[in-house]
Amino acid sequence: MGIKILSTGSYKPLLTVTNDDLASCVETNDEWIRTRTGISERHMTNGEPTWYMGARAAERAIDEAGIDPLDIGMIICSTITNDYFTPSCAAVIQRETGAANAAAFDLGAACSGFVYSLDTARRFLMTDDRLKYVLVVAAEQLSYITDFTDRSSCILFGDGAAAFIVERSDAFCTSWLGCDGSGMNHLYAKVAHDPHPFVKDPVHTDDGTADDAPVGVLVQDGKEVYKFATKALPHAVKMALEGTGTGVEDIDIFVPHQANIRIIETAAKNLGVGLEKFYTNIGHTGNTSSASIPLAFDEAVHTGAVKRGQKVCFVGFGAGLTLAAMVFDY
Ligand code: UT7
Repeated sequence: MGIKILSTGSYKPLLTVTNDDLASCVETNDEWIRTRTGISERHMTNGEPTWYMGARAAERAIDEAGIDPLDIGMIICSTITNDYFTPSCAAVIQRETGAANAAAFDLGAACSGFVYSLDTARRFLMTDDRLKYVLVVAAEQLSYITDFTDRSSCILFGDGAAAFIVERSDAFCTSWLGCDGSGMNHLYAKVAHDPHPFVKDPVHTDDGTADDAPVGVLVQDGKEVYKFATKALPHAVKMALEGTGTGVEDIDIFVPHQANIRIIETAAKNLGVGLEKFYTNIGHTGNTSSASIPLAFDEAVHTGAVKRGQKVCFVGFGAGLTLAAMVFDY
């Protein structure tokens, strides 16, 4: 059983940060960033919290679907940049949208998080007849955890949110979710906190991350992530299609995680699919983690680049290291 995406909505912060703007923080230049990543500019919040971006995107999706928010039975928000340890971003979005009958929780699977969330929504819809609509949101404020002194990473990230209203359907849908925790030390952001007052001899543990790594900001081994991503994309797609009788050649449009245009180019080649089938908007959004796939899809829907009846593939990869793909009839 599949899902029907009734509507999509998005929120892109109005503040635009260009490559030249970044060149005033770190030693870099527009040409290096464009040729190595495909990014020219990205949106960043001008103080809007993550919940605010998620709620505005959700309202747009609800308006477009023309549904009563009280008929939404569940809100799943994918985020790694919630404003609070607790409550969840989904809980605040529930308040903002008036979806008072909805269960609400966040899901954290980094850049694969939207595919994980959409698949979770599908499985809830499959098993609970009382559930009519699920609101699936991805809201990310990467600027919140970006190290603006690290030129190899700060040039990649942007902020934004997107939301879907989904319901159950009999349309084709298949998915696969994966993770390789042995690579967690290639991409992480450590939580900043002081030990409680009763700690004496702290237990020493080693998770493979650098002891002197800065806390509260993203740390990455760009080359390792690059290598992983170019293999993860084709692997996740093939795993999702396995045993379904549907092949890669049957897919009309791929919407990959917008990490780096060179990753997408190499991964498309590894999958044996022409780049023209890959929808990209990284040039003006940067990498918005889990918001990148729904942001790109919302753009593709509203510009007519994707049409009803087409077979669509979402494919994500990121910290964890996580990877996930979903193929469905739109
Ligand atoms: O959602 C997943 C998030 N993470 C990713 O997607 C990251 C995946 N990795 C990448 O996208 C790429 O590895 C980067 C864009 C991060 C780096 O590109 P690269 O082609 O792997 O560059 P590099 O690390 O090999 O660096 C090449 C040179 C180095 O200088 P030297 O040692 O050759 O003199 C760097 O110091 O480029 C230098 N460099 C820069 N120069 C200008 C690194 N960052 C910059 C910069 N501006 N921003």
